[in-house]
Amino acid sequence: MPLLESPMDTNPFKPDFTWGAAAASYQIEGAAHADDKGLSVWDIFCQQPGKVAGGDNGVVACDHYHRSIDDVQLMSEIGLQAYRLSISWPRVLPAGVGTVNQEGLDFYDRLVDCLLSHNIQPWVTLFHWDYPYDLYCRGGWLNRDSADWFADYTQVIVDKLSDRVQHWIPQNEPQCFIGLGHQQGEHAPGLKLSLREMLLAAHHSFLAHGKSVQVIRDRAQLPPTIGTALVGIVAIPATDSPADIEAARKATLSVKAKNCWNNTWFADPILRGEYPADGLQLFREHLPEISAEDLKTMHQPLDFYGLNIYQGYTVTAKPNGGYTFVSPAVGAPRTTMDWPITPEALYWGPKFIHERYQLPIAITENGMANSDWVHHDGQVHDPQRIDFLKGYLGAFGDAIASGIPAKGYFLWSIMDNFEWAYGYQKRFGIIHVDYGTQQRTLKDSAHWYKQVIASQGEVL
Ligand code: NOJ
Repeated sequence: MPLLESPMDTNPFKPDFTWGAAAASYQIEGAAHADDKGLSVWDIFCQQPGKVAGGDNGVVACDHYHRSIDDVQLMSEIGLQAYRLSISWPRVLPAGVGTVNQEGLDFYDRLVDCLLSHNIQPWVTLFHWDYPYDLYCRGGWLNRDSADWFADYTQVIVDKLSDRVQHWIPQNEPQCFIGLGHQQGEHAPGLKLSLREMLLAAHHSFLAHGKSVQVIRDRAQLPPTIGTALVGIVAIPATDSPADIEAARKATLSVKAKNCWNNTWFADPILRGEYPADGLQLFREHLPEISAEDLKTMHQPLDFYGLNIYQGYTVTAKPNGGYTFVSPAVGAPRTTMDWPITPEALYWGPKFIHERYQLPIAITENGMANSDWVHHDGQVHDPQRIDFLKGYLGAFGDAIASGIPAKGYFLWSIMDNFEWAYGYQKRFGIIHVDYGTQQRTLKDSAHWYKQVIASQGEVL
């Protein structure tokens, strides 16, 4: 009789688990002024001295707009099962609303066809930060109409692509486009708003999310699967003691500071139809008007909770039931973003988030910036990235083995690209891009990821 396998020997990544990689329009497309594309807030932000390292911008980026067929060919060589792309809103609607720019829309139409012809499922993010400049001039997210503008834009895309696209993510990382963009001023549009105004902009973005989901559900031709791509802010327990685990749970699921760096202020309205009580208390003097009707609109059924997780921070329980942060050890490993390398974040993040929201988890982004270059042998050796991914994917596998339902994993990023305020210095790709020649080189991590995908995670 064959011996029974222990659970540890069983591959947690089931056959329906999706292996993908991600990128975003402004970060790779370039062609910022081609074919009647409208301007986005990032086009304008990059022109302001001192905003982006090296004065870099997305005018050319990876020139993916002109090279998408070759890029999809490379994705296919790696064996990607899915590619998470985003659509540039002002490329399709130059003024944000109104007249459709057919050439812009056709680009995405062709891209979707090309992906499908290589058996790569497109997961479409509707908004990954390149907000139409014209709408910004009309108040942007501070204008309540922004929710309807986003719904109208959603309709244009859904009507065009939903006969082939099944996976939809209305917005990427609202914590960042609201927090970094509207409170800290480090991302476009570069605003440093009051707390009250920041919360109002966030409220409108939640309304926009809800209306967008309604449009997708009402109009999609193929049955849609809809989810989030929220920043995962993860506390890791210092030890496995029940007290430390509870401390980390509390830290992960609370609103601690008067900023956007939390999970629940951004997830509760759209997934539970309410703002979290601790946030309502903390923000009490700065709250926008919150009507029951708005909460109802925001709260639309979703199919998965997409989490972008790069790192976690460690907490330990205090005797009084509170918790405190534990500083990373001196010399602890960090990426070239200076972010700590904490694989356990991909265990605890999915676990705590699933406990609260009860949805299957997709890791919509995970990866690292590394100091990569083409070596004398013509290859790009990035053992650090392979080790990073092994650790994080192993932890995610452990979360799945412990019973967390999981839909898939999207490596950030398919290729090196424009890393927002850091410009081109930070390389997150598994494909190296030479920005002078636009030459692409598969890094060692791409060859390694190919094996992971081919074995459905068995080699991990
Ligand atoms: C999250 C963002 O969605 C993406 O645009 C960015 O490049 C990565 N994190 C890395 O910072």
